[in-house]
Amino acid sequence: MSRAQLFERITDQANRPNPYPLYEELRETRVAPQDNGSFLVGRYYDVMALLHDPRISSDLHNRGPGLPGADRAGDGPESFLKLDPPEHDRLRRLTTRQFGPPHSPDRIDSMRGELAELVTNLVDGLDGKGRIDIVDDFAYPFPVSVICRLLGVPHEEEPRFHAWADALVAAIDPRRTSADNEQVKAAQQAQMEMAMFMAGLIEDRRRNPGDDMLSGLANDSGPDGQLNTVELVTNSILLFIAGHETTVNLITNGMLTLLRNPDVLERLRAEPELVPKAVEELLRFEPPVHLLGQRTPIVDIEIDGVTVPKGSPLVLALASANRDPERFVDADRFVPDREDNQHVGLGSGIHSCFGAPLARLEGQMALAELIRRLPNPRLVEDPPPYRPNPVLRGPRHLLVDCG
Ligand code: HEM
Repeated sequence: MSRAQLFERITDQANRPNPYPLYEELRETRVAPQDNGSFLVGRYYDVMALLHDPRISSDLHNRGPGLPGADRAGDGPESFLKLDPPEHDRLRRLTTRQFGPPHSPDRIDSMRGELAELVTNLVDGLDGKGRIDIVDDFAYPFPVSVICRLLGVPHEEEPRFHAWADALVAAIDPRRTSADNEQVKAAQQAQMEMAMFMAGLIEDRRRNPGDDMLSGLANDSGPDGQLNTVELVTNSILLFIAGHETTVNLITNGMLTLLRNPDVLERLRAEPELVPKAVEELLRFEPPVHLLGQRTPIVDIEIDGVTVPKGSPLVLALASANRDPERFVDADRFVPDREDNQHVGLGSGIHSCFGAPLARLEGQMALAELIRRLPNPRLVEDPPPYRPNPVLRGPRHLLVDCG
């Protein structure tokens, strides 16, 4: 089949369990123009260079009319994920100030105790069950609770965030067209409800500030001024979207990989201090984010003699870059103590993952506890059923027999 249909094949549900041979095919060339008008890039050094290239925009308003994704520009106020400098930098700076020193307490470090309690309670709930679903019973409920705690959403309000996060995530799919109305409507409805709730909470935190991140964001005025309510609402929702399904998939892909490599699982049980390195390797080997489809050149660019015209959709295949043998020795092997592991699983450049310290800590704490406490875990089906989303790729269920 032609290389011009690679995007279609990569995003085809039938290939979700194992898209890696397609990435190998993609890496045979530096840039693969697609029948749908987009351009795919999958070699490590090209992906890295493009992530750092100021000619590449993250703002869909730069898409040429009629090209994939162009119809999604202007859905409402944009989070900084979808903005370019200088707006991106201003909003990211304002948000970063509330994430840790020197301007605010080290929120991630101070959350260790709460995270440990969440993880312990979730694993306690698995005790005595012969068969568990790592997704529904553990990985899914965890990150939404974590982001609620980070922002300072009252505990009793958390359940509604779980429902909203589900609806929002369902709509992040590059194959979505404006015809997929049901999902789009549900996501819009969820976004509206979440926005209204957050706006109310922000007003409350302006009047009665606490020591949570939302209070900090609502009241801080540094050199960049203050976030207004719309910016604050939009960017809090970004934290939920960006930090939810990604973390679910890190934990689930992580357990799947360990169950496929029982010797590694045993090693980590014996040497828990290796878990942070193993999580890093998981971010390379089975990254939760496979494709970045939000990029557009703002001028014509040339890659290896191929012109990528201004306004065209440019898709950066992070999961392919992470398996590039030009960059990683034994790229298709899971090596839990890999050295020199500068993967792009958390992106790179100005949009590199804002939540990276939290993502790493969540992955480490969750996997360490599962490894320590699940007695004799065995995969029930391999491959497990996958969610349809090819961007945020991960199993829908991961059934494991224990005991
Ligand atoms: C950006 C991955 C968890 C917040 C990104 C990007 C990647 C990524 C690949 C780059 C996007 C781009 O270049 O367009 C992941 C993975 C995670 C994770 C794999 C979990 C394992 C989190 C968490 C949070 C978060 C927990 C929030 C607390 C963000 C934000 C951005 C981002 C706000 C946008 C940064 C910007 O545009 O400047 N993430 N992420 N992420 N991530 Fe994460």
